[in-house]
Amino acid sequence: MLFAIGSDHAGYFLKSEIIKILKEHGHDYIDYGTNSTKSVDYPDFGKKVSITISRGQADRGILICGTGIGMTIVANKFKNVRASLCNELYTAKMSRLHNNANVLVLGSRIVGIDLAKEIVITWINTPYEGERHCNRLKKISLIEKRFLKR
Ligand code: RB5
Repeated sequence: MLFAIGSDHAGYFLKSEIIKILKEHGHDYIDYGTNSTKSVDYPDFGKKVSITISRGQADRGILICGTGIGMTIVANKFKNVRASLCNELYTAKMSRLHNNANVLVLGSRIVGIDLAKEIVITWINTPYEGERHCNRLKKISLIEKRFLKR
């Protein structure tokens, strides 16, 4: 799969570790930065990843900030983006099975590196269950059409 990945300064180290996992598992990626621990604003990086997913230019997105909250708020402003903040394994799995989440958000100040790696691997490898959830996702698309300007 092709991944779009981005973080702010708080997520920079974890982003580098996740990129290693993507490579190890044979995935491609576009790294939208940030590229150091110098303080930046998370919306600038969340926006880049989310636009890419929204336009269908990558299969999945991964965003990291300190808590994961800011990046989640940003990402879910974009059409076709279903971003899920998963700081533990159960939501990582359920966000794929039930919500077909296409953006994984992590809080680098919440999860340790080993747990974060497990979350990423679980999230990447868990399929969408479909069936009864399809109608619910269609309703989300209708909300986007009705209330999002573009
Ligand atoms: C940066 O200090 C921090 O606010 C940011 O990484 C994130 O946690 C925002 O939600």
